Amino acid sequence: MATGIIGVGHYVPKRILTNFDLEKIVDTSDEWIRTRTGIEERHIAADDEDTSDMAYQAAISALEDAELSASELDLILVATITPDHPFPSVACQLQAKLGATKAAAMDISAACAGFMYGMVTAKQFIDSGVYRHVLVIGAEKLSKITDWEDRNTCVLFGDGAGAAVLSPVQEDRGILSFELGADGTGGHALYQEDDKIRMNGREVFKFAVRQMPESAVHVVEQAGLDKEDVNYLIPHQANVRIMEAARNRLGISEEKMAYSINKYGNTSAASIPIALSEDVKQGKINDGDLVVLVGFGGGLTWGAIALRWGK
Ligand code: UT7
Repeated sequence: MATGIIGVGHYVPKRILTNFDLEKIVDTSDEWIRTRTGIEERHIAADDEDTSDMAYQAAISALEDAELSASELDLILVATITPDHPFPSVACQLQAKLGATKAAAMDISAACAGFMYGMVTAKQFIDSGVYRHVLVIGAEKLSKITDWEDRNTCVLFGDGAGAAVLSPVQEDRGILSFELGADGTGGHALYQEDDKIRMNGREVFKFAVRQMPESAVHVVEQAGLDKEDVNYLIPHQANVRIMEAARNRLGISEEKMAYSINKYGNTSAASIPIALSEDVKQGKINDGDLVVLVGFGGGLTWGAIALRWGK
């Protein structure tokens, strides 16, 4: 058996904040935001809607898709940098809300690469035979740590959650290879201070355009495959120019890359699972497809996975 994804789900809050809305808050323009980042709008959680609420909605949808009941879960992993509280973890809140009484639960802090770290952690437990069903979620309410006076960052982020159920799948499906990495010396480029996101955009950009393509190619090679074999690329939705760097390195056409940054902005750990869930449901990813997931984020961290879609 291998470890793969048997169900996906996602949730974004109702309220939409457009670039034109932002023009009224800070000195920016729709033109600047669109051309520099690809973002047109983002979803913002309600005041009484926190990370665990969004994670719950995504979880319910993924469990339904997997045709699995919460009581069958062995482990819940929530990748987030915006938990409701430092503790209890979002994963524990979720364990209670779902009634996943058998499941162990913990949060993972690896910023925008968090969902990659979560999936790889789940794989270890399933491959070793210790657990069967692991719920991995990326969920963020970035709006609560956004500095709404800083135009360098406030135009970039959005809220939402994405989830996947990982379980044993047939031998020729599932996760084929992965890479996780970190460079703590770059921590000063993207961090939280006084409850707000601080970022050196150019430095993060340089790191990302180098790391994302490199990791994407690496996992394909590690799986013993060629770039031409890739059917679909899901890069972390942070900046369309960074996403394009990864796409160009793999040499794949535009329609083979997930693109939801225009609607959701950068939702950190939630961005890859939201894109995955949406694109699976839209029929863009099908049984037997070679899918590459790749992310990077504060820490600095990065991660990539090559996956043969299907159960
Ligand atoms: O999940 C990981 C999270 N972070 C990222 O992925 C961020 C990676 N970095 C980026 O995506 C890009 O660096 C940004 C989108 C943040 C910035 O784009 P850039 O092309 O690197 O612009 P820049 O930082 O070089 O700034 C160019 C100019 C500056 O003005 P001056 O100094 O040249 O006069 C900025 O002040 O654009 C200005 N600027 C803005 N102008 C209008 C910065 N933000 C804005 C804004 N509206 N929102």
